[in-house]
Parts: sequence; C-alpha cells; structure tokens
Amino acid sequence: MDSPRPVESIDRPKTVTEKDQQAQTEMIRRFLDQADSLAVLTGAGVSAESGIPTFRDAQTGLWAKYDPMELATPEAFARDPALVSRWYDERRRRCAECEPNPGHLALARLQDELEAAGKRFTLITQNVDRLHQRAGSRDPLELHGTFWIWRCTSCGEEREERAIPLPEYPPRCRCGGARRPGVVWFGEALSESVLAAARRAAEHCELFMSLGTSSLVEPAASLGRIASSAGAKTVEINPQETPLSSRVDISVRGATGEILPLILPAQG
Ligand code: APR
Repeated sequence: MDSPRPVESIDRPKTVTEKDQQAQTEMIRRFLDQADSLAVLTGAGVSAESGIPTFRDAQTGLWAKYDPMELATPEAFARDPALVSRWYDERRRRCAECEPNPGHLALARLQDELEAAGKRFTLITQNVDRLHQRAGSRDPLELHGTFWIWRCTSCGEEREERAIPLPEYPPRCRCGGARRPGVVWFGEALSESVLAAARRAAEHCELFMSLGTSSLVEPAASLGRIASSAGAKTVEINPQETPLSSRVDISVRGATGEILPLILPAQG
C-alpha cells in the first residue's frame, strides 16, 4: 500500500524556486538543441520591460479616460480620425524613447545562432513597435502591422512615417486622403499572407515558444494550439498564467527579459 502523502504536499500551489527555474531553462536549452525549427510568437509582454505599456495596462495621463479597445477600431477612426491619430502618435513617441530590452536582444541572437546552424527560425509578433527589428531580428511576421507605416484610406499608398510628432492629425496623403496607422484594428482581418505564413511556421516547427502574450486574442492565440496539436514541443514564458499555460510542455513564470538570456548558449 502507498504511504500517505505528507499533508504539506497535498494540493498546495507550487512556488517556483530558482532551482525550478534553472531546471526549466536547461530543459528549454535541450529542446533548442534537439529542434531543427523554431517558431516564436511574441506579444506586448516582451516590450513591457522596454517601458512600453501592455495594451491591457491602464492608460495614463490625458488618455486615462479612453479605453484602448475603443480607440483601436475602424469605427473610432471614422468617427474621430484626429483623436485616434493623436493616440497613435503618443504611442509612437513613447516607443521612440524606448530601447530594445534583453529579451528582444536574446531573440535576435537566437535567430543568428539557429540560422548559422542551418535551422529554421520564424519570429511572429503581435507587437506594432518594431523593437524586434531594432534589436536585430530579421523578417519578423508582423501579425498586427506596425504604427511606423501609415496607409492612405483613399488610394491605399503605404509609406513609412518617422516624423514625431506627425505633421497633422490625421496625416494626409499626396492624393489628399487621410492616412491611417498600418496596424490591424479590432474587427479587421489580418493580412492573409502573413497569417498563412505564421500558421505554416506553427504547424511545421519542432519547437514553439509563446512569449509575453495573454493568449486571448485570436487568431494569434491559436498558433500555440496548432503547434502542439502538430506535435511540436511547446514553451511559454509569462509572469501570469494564460489559457495556453496548461497545454505547454514548459510554462515558465517569469519575465522574458530575464529568462530569454538564460537560454542562450554561453558566449565563448
Ligand atoms: N515578460 C513576459 N510577459 C509579460 C511581461 C514580461 N516582462 N510583462 C507582462 N507580461 C505578460 C502579461 O502577463 C500578459 O499576459 O504579457 C501579456 C500581455 O498581454 P496583452 O496586453 O493582452 O498583450 P498581447 O497578448 O500582445 O495582446 C494581443 O491584443 O491588445 C491587442 O492588438 C493588441 O497585439 C495586441 C493583441
């Protein structure tokens, strides 16, 4: 007969100790060494340590009275294009003052390492800030576009817009039309080709990592499920539990800026 479990071990929430975390990062390293292809999905949490508030964080200052879910819609832009443009301008200004953090830098190094070893690496991001590119990542799939590109609502021309502040609200195209940020708003479809490439990467990778995303917003949230159903090893890094946490092989409760550098190979 089994001896009874000591009371302390019964159904108590586990605290993640440093030792657990070390074991988890070593295991992720092993997964990386064994996999021929890696797909990584990132969300707002990866940029949080750069000082960019996550979308669901409370807004501050002048914007405190607005719900981001009500500003990031085509209806909001149609109703008040100046207000929505100003909000994006404020986010661009904040972003321009921020630097990529150790999480972004680790992902760029991971891409270098894997590609140098002839492995496939696909970075899929929901972030519109382009901090991955500033850290050195190449060709990320930008599921939700970027606020550094603005598109004319009349002629459709897309142009990079670096000026801070914007020259006017909303900025105007050469054809006279209003330009809008090149992001995907709530209620809008993602670019089919970008989404198809992301789904392919999730389906065909041997290792999938979901980093700093609440796994609440579709279709990005489904990529982790696609990968695990197709048999990939799966990893999540997030200080909070998400709907994906119980499905992944390794769920690390921590900040990506702290954990990701630990999974890089030691520098020689
Ligand atoms: N490291 C890792 N994760 C973090 C960190 C950190 N330092 N700080 C916060 N997080 C986690 C939070 O616990 C949360 O689960 O980042 C997640 C951020 O969640 P959201 O704000 O919902 O961001 P995201 O998942 O990217 O949202 C998806 O929805 O808001 C829209 O279009 C917007 O692209 C966004 C999409």
